[in-house]
Amino acid sequence: MTFTLAEDSALLQAVTIGETVAANRIFMAPLTRSRAQADGTPSDLAAEYYSQRGAAGVIITEATAISAEANGAYMNTPGIYTDRHQAKWAEIADAVHATGGRMFVQLWHVGRMAHPEISGVEVVGPSAIAADMTTHTPSGKQPLPVPRALQTAEIAPIVEQFRAAARRAIDAGMDGVEIHSANGYLLHEFLSDVVNQRIDAYGGSAENRARLAAEVIEAVVAEVGGGRVGLRISPGNPAGDMHEIDTVGAYEALLHRVGGLGLAYLHVVADPATPEFGVIRSLWPQTLVLNTGRATDTSFCQLEELAEWGVIGAAAVGRAFLANPDLIDRLTAGAELNVPDETTFYAPGPVGYIDYPTLAEFELKSA
Ligand SMILES: Cc1cc2nc3c(=O)[nH]c(=O)nc-3n(C[C@H](O)[C@H](O)[C@H](O)COP(=O)(O)O)c2cc1C
Repeated sequence: MTFTLAEDSALLQAVTIGETVAANRIFMAPLTRSRAQADGTPSDLAAEYYSQRGAAGVIITEATAISAEANGAYMNTPGIYTDRHQAKWAEIADAVHATGGRMFVQLWHVGRMAHPEISGVEVVGPSAIAADMTTHTPSGKQPLPVPRALQTAEIAPIVEQFRAAARRAIDAGMDGVEIHSANGYLLHEFLSDVVNQRIDAYGGSAENRARLAAEVIEAVVAEVGGGRVGLRISPGNPAGDMHEIDTVGAYEALLHRVGGLGLAYLHVVADPATPEFGVIRSLWPQTLVLNTGRATDTSFCQLEELAEWGVIGAAAVGRAFLANPDLIDRLTAGAELNVPDETTFYAPGPVGYIDYPTLAEFELKSA
């Protein structure tokens, strides 16, 4: 089944997010592809991969570490904390801008999702509570360890690393940064009333659990300006063995604290039919980017309605963009979409990365 986007579709209208004008409202969701070099410099193929997808309203990059210690949930994930990293990201920004595209770098600290065999350092989190999961390490599949609870004095340096990484992203020519506070990584772990059992100023009440994410946003906004900063959240999302009994309180506190900072957008991973989404929407009158987590060709119909009604400012689409560099063209043509190949999501090399055919290439081959 295919879906055709009409030329006057709300999803094809331009949208201003902070300092950036996006040509349309179909953004590329952040996608870890595990093809970075050993030192965290993005792959030499990354400029081609991203520029193939430059027709997205905005490309949100794969999650990118703010420091060596912040990395290590998966193998070969990039960073943006050395001059060499920054130079490669600058090449990527140039390549995407040359297509008319726009690009935000997603910044993360992986927290308790790290494994010492990948990161080479001790795993830390809000509290000594492990994610009941395994990860692929150089020596095979391993359970995630119990993290060491961060000391209060260790938190300010992490905020500073987010600030410095955001500065590097803007200096590399990126249009903005997205702070990753979703999917079970460090900032999300602090928001949780289950995974965060701290008794200092960063645990306990909703305001305290929101404090780290809020301090990161405030520091990054002070450095690069609110109009260049997005925030990604996933209230109640169980990814990363996350648990939240109170799925709304910490988010309410966080949005209350950062709502006046002029952020470019709030990016929510949620089913729009859930009560959490309704609460977040009502707390955030500004631009909201929605990732429903099931962007098949048929769900574009729902996203289009939400954009038309003004419920969302834009839709973020992951796997459909991964497999269809020319997604926008395919949707406007009502064409079939390539099916994403899960076996190459995190595999090294060009296959499943830069070789998904465009419609034109496909038709040429089958002619
Ligand atoms: C291969 C892969 C890598 C992902 N990497 C990230 C990431 O780096 N950061 C992030 O916030 N979400 C990441 N996600 C989640 C996606 O951004 C998105 O929320 C999810 O794929 C559901 O949306 P979709 O149905 O449009 O793909 C990843 C998902 C996949 C499939």
